[in-house]
Amino acid sequence: MTDATHAGTLFLREVTVARGNRVVVNAVSLEVPPGEVTALLGPNGAGKSSLVLAVGGVLRAQGGSVSLGEQDLTRARPERIRQAGVAIVPEGRRLLPALTVEENLRVATYTLGRDQARAASERALELFPELKRRLRSQARLLSGGEQQMVVLAQALVSEPKVVVIDELSLGLAPVVVSRLIPTLRTITAMGTGVLLIEQFATVALGLANRAYVMNGGVIEFSGTAGELRENPELLHLAYLLRTAAGSVGGAR
Ligand SMILES: Nc1ncnc2c1ncn2[C@@H]1O[C@H](COP(=O)(O)OP(=O)(O)OP(=O)(O)O)[C@@H](O)[C@H]1O
Ligand SMILES: [Mg+2]
Repeated sequence: MTDATHAGTLFLREVTVARGNRVVVNAVSLEVPPGEVTALLGPNGAGKSSLVLAVGGVLRAQGGSVSLGEQDLTRARPERIRQAGVAIVPEGRRLLPALTVEENLRVATYTLGRDQARAASERALELFPELKRRLRSQARLLSGGEQQMVVLAQALVSEPKVVVIDELSLGLAPVVVSRLIPTLRTITAMGTGVLLIEQFATVALGLANRAYVMNGGVIEFSGTAGELRENPELLHLAYLLRTAAGSVGGAR
C-alpha cells in the first residue's frame, strides 16, 4: 500500500460492539481504500448497521480501533469523525420532511461559512442535476429516489475521504438504483473510498473491488468481489438466511 493510499484508507481493527448485553459485532477488521467501492454483505441481523453506527461514533465500540490512515477515530464524537473525513449514511436516514431540499442541504453544511456552504451544496448538486429543479420542494414531496439523492448529497457536501452507505437501495425500485450507480462511480473516480452495504449483492459486487461477508457478528469472507461472484455458496448462505429472517418478520 502506498503512503497516499494508506492516508486515505479507513481501517477497522477488531471492532467489537455490544447492544443490550449481547455482542453483535465481534472483532471485525476491514479496510476501505480510497478511490474504490468496498462491499459489505450479509443477512439480516449480521451486525452490519451496528458496525456502521460504531464507525460513525453513534454506538460506542467496546473494543478495537477505527482510524483514517494514521488518525485514530476510535470512540470519537460523530462531529469529529465527520470533520476527519468520514461521512456516514445510516440505514433508513430520513430528511426533515417539512423543509425544502435546499434547507435539508443547508442543515448538512451548518458548520461551514456561508460561501463555503453554498459552494459545497453546488458541488454536491452537480452529482444529482435532477435535484436542481426540486430545490424549493419540501422533502416530503420527493420520490424515494430523489430523497435518497438528497441523503447522499448531504453526506457528500463535506467532501469526505470515505463514505459509508448503509443500504443504498432500501425501498427503491431497481431503475432508481441504477440511476445512483454512476454517481458512486463518479465519487470513487474523484478518489473517495466507499463502503457499500447493500441488500442486492449483484449491485454491490458489480461496483466493488473488494468484498466482505458478515454473519453473526463476524467476517466470514474477505476477498475480491470477483471471488465472491464466483463463489455462489457463500452468497447463497448469506441470502438464504436473509430470506428466512424476512419470512418471520425480519429485523427491520
Ligand atoms: N436498538 C437495538 N437494541 C438492541 N439490539 C439491537 C438493536 N438494533 C439491532 N439490534 C440487534 O443487533 C444485531 C445486529 O443488528 P444490525 O441491525 O446491526 O444487523 P444488520 O446486519 O444491519 O441487519 P439488516 O440487514 O437487517 O439491516 C441483531 O441481533 C439485532 O437484533
Ligand atoms: Mg442493517
